[in-house]
Amino acid sequence: MLIALLPGDGIGPEVTAQAVRVLEQVAPALRFEEAPVGGAAYKAQGHPLPPETLALARRADAILFGAVGDPDCDRLERALRPEQAILGLRKELGLFANLRPAKLFAELADASALRPEVARAIDLVIIRELTGDVYFGQPRGIRRTEAGLREGYDTMRYDEAEIARIARVGFETARARAKRLCSVDKANVLETSQLWRDVVIEVAADYPDIALEHMYVDNAAMQLVRNPGQFDVIVTGNLFGDILSDQASMCVGSIGLLPSASLDSAGKGLYEPIHGSAPDIAGQGRANPLATILSAAMMLRYSLNDAAGADRIEAAVARALAAGARSHDLGGDMATEAMGDAVLAAL
Ligand code: IPM
Ligand code: MG
Repeated sequence: MLIALLPGDGIGPEVTAQAVRVLEQVAPALRFEEAPVGGAAYKAQGHPLPPETLALARRADAILFGAVGDPDCDRLERALRPEQAILGLRKELGLFANLRPAKLFAELADASALRPEVARAIDLVIIRELTGDVYFGQPRGIRRTEAGLREGYDTMRYDEAEIARIARVGFETARARAKRLCSVDKANVLETSQLWRDVVIEVAADYPDIALEHMYVDNAAMQLVRNPGQFDVIVTGNLFGDILSDQASMCVGSIGLLPSASLDSAGKGLYEPIHGSAPDIAGQGRANPLATILSAAMMLRYSLNDAAGADRIEAAVARALAAGARSHDLGGDMATEAMGDAVLAAL
């Protein structure tokens, strides 16, 4: 099995290096091929997603991705900015289903931004649609109004097929868990959300065993800190899912803990921590590699048919935390590599 290794920018290379160490131990038959992506690729080759990198991602059985984003590149024209690499990979590879599980590790109840008794109940998955919505809708741009003012505009749009296919991922995920699905939208204001809600209700006819509820995104943001234990599976669009998943991460302790899988319709996937490149701490060994290590576990489970390997990695992370391993974001002082060591020792 070939893994495309795309470390990217900032802390990306540091955290992916630790995930590779763990994978080499748990799944020694994997082969890794590395390619530049994001600002690093722009600086080396003039484009954030060079054709060779995209070709490698297509050829590989799965993709392990670090992070992209580089302040040096923020004033480049949008098509050349680092973020276009991850957006391009998602779009080009049809990775429409983004799974972002958030579960509290018992030992970290104190690290949560919430009271421990509230945080302890968290065990949810956010299913975020990843290839549509205002992220990709056309037209978009910055133009001049007749009054001569600059005006920025974007287009939020979803067609019914896009909504139905992500809704099905939500229902199927709920079916394998506690059988509760919460669809998050803004149907009280947005037409796109009205269609979203209508289509989710239509698809629900095929899932009579799943308890479906609908929630406006503002209320969902509030409920996520008030009583996160009420959620099992959340399904939502690209923009709302982006925001709610960052919020969910602090509810379980740190953004350095949340992994993600981005899957196509055949189960091929890209695996990445939900955090960004954190340029402020890059190169200092302060990054928490656990989100990437847990993303590697998801890779084994969803793309490489190795649920046992995934279980081993997840158990090792839990054991390392139970033994007191704490990176800076968790209030400790362990370096990135020491966190990797702790997971390897627990394996
Ligand atoms: C994420 C990130 C990306 C997104 C950025 C880096 C483009 O925030 O994966 O959540 O907005 O999707
Ligand atoms: Mg995000």
